[in-house]
Amino acid sequence: MTRNISAEEMARQREFAQKCAELFGENPPIAHVHTFGCQQNVSDGEKIKGMLAEIGYGLTDSPDGADLVIFNTCAVRENAEDRVFGNLGSLKHEKERNPAMIIAVCGCMVEQGHITEKIRRSYPHVDLIFGTNALYRLPELIYGQLSDRKREICVPDGDVISEGIPILRESKIKASVPIMYGCNNFCSYCIVPYVRGRERSRKPSDIIEEIKSVLADGAREILLLGQNVNSYGKELGTSFSELLREINALDGEFRICYMSSHPRDFTKELIDTIAECEKVTRHFHLPVQSGSDRILGLMNRHYTRDDYLRIVEYIREKVPGAAITSDIIVGFPGETYEDFRETLSLIEEVRFDSLYTFIYSSRKGTKAAEMDDPITDEEKGKWFRELLDVQGRIGKDMYEKYIGQTLRVLCDGTGRTQSDLLTGRTPQDVIVDFEGDKSLIGKFVNVKIEEALIWAVKGKLVDG
Ligand code: SAH
Ligand code: SF4
Ligand code: F3S
Repeated sequence: MTRNISAEEMARQREFAQKCAELFGENPPIAHVHTFGCQQNVSDGEKIKGMLAEIGYGLTDSPDGADLVIFNTCAVRENAEDRVFGNLGSLKHEKERNPAMIIAVCGCMVEQGHITEKIRRSYPHVDLIFGTNALYRLPELIYGQLSDRKREICVPDGDVISEGIPILRESKIKASVPIMYGCNNFCSYCIVPYVRGRERSRKPSDIIEEIKSVLADGAREILLLGQNVNSYGKELGTSFSELLREINALDGEFRICYMSSHPRDFTKELIDTIAECEKVTRHFHLPVQSGSDRILGLMNRHYTRDDYLRIVEYIREKVPGAAITSDIIVGFPGETYEDFRETLSLIEEVRFDSLYTFIYSSRKGTKAAEMDDPITDEEKGKWFRELLDVQGRIGKDMYEKYIGQTLRVLCDGTGRTQSDLLTGRTPQDVIVDFEGDKSLIGKFVNVKIEEALIWAVKGKLVDG
């Protein structure tokens, strides 16, 4: 059951923020927030910063000398967790020098009992642990730390939706807007449904209101967020297609992006909708994970290689010029070299524009963690490099195909390859560097592509 946090409760949190501000008086303290993981976590990080700013904290990029440090963590792979433990370990000395420092850990990692227990036992310098469903209570939790330095662990059960948390956005041009939280898919390798709870959608009216407000503030790209956006709105009697149409109908030139998608829910109707909605990105990120039906079955993905290929075919028919990218896991328990070759052949067949590739990481509590996994890490590493080689070849061709095309680019900053250039993204989400005046940042421009680089293209501004 989803619990909607009431307006009264949110007002109570505002009062705690005010009380903290009164404690600080003339000397505003500084906070450092370090976010790990996916866009969903980055979006939570923006809320954490929004609440801290309201409380009266200044923000800093480094933990050195900070009065408050918050690690907003990710649990998706072991190396994500190792990095957090490494960072926590190195704060120990900082805290010895400055015992007034408050150290907090939140996000997906602390939703796992064994991790919370490990932090409690082995990292005594951590003052506060709070789960994803307690995010909205940050002002109250900080007030608790400021008024009584008792260690607090707040990881409540029960999935919540809280509206009206202040947000300090990372970018004025690109705004992330969560449309749903949690996941019901239980892919057998994945920890997300355990740490983020059941799927629940925000009301369309709340989403539209937020989008209107960021557009009024100058945003030109809206990134709709959810673990599986294609199943948005099921429990509200609406759908992702309907939401896209409603956003597409808002005034002005802006781009609508979304992530992530699950191939099982990527229907023809949705592809038709995207084809008709001119503001929606021409980039389809459609994680396939494996090209072997046997492995897809074990992964609990609910589609076959053939189903996937048919979706790709329909996208290419309805949205010519679309870019298609994907996620791949190498070395799922029980995967053989034969299975892996099926993945390679799928990649050759689809010709993805780019891939996010991961070596399987066992996550405690998931189904896959119980499966036999006889292949060595060394062998998996070899397969992984083979995959990168194949995609490296394909990716290069995919970028070269843009040479000679004039594309509508949202200019979002100065160049990645050279700082005297501007940079932006095409409707296919390809990075483009080009010469131009800085006043173009935040605007749409037309760029003729002249050169393909690795991970980017270069072009020239043209009129229109
Ligand atoms: N909900 C999104 C994102 C999930 S996490 C989606 O379904 O697309 C992003 C990617 O991390 C996944 O697509 C998968 O490729 C990878 N991933 C998830 N769990 C993993 C694990 N245990 N080991 C390795 N990669 C994993
Ligand atoms: Fe994880 Fe699968 Fe849900 Fe994505 S859809 S978050 S991979 S369980
Ligand atoms: Fe990581 Fe949590 Fe996102 S586990 S990938 S930060 S939802």
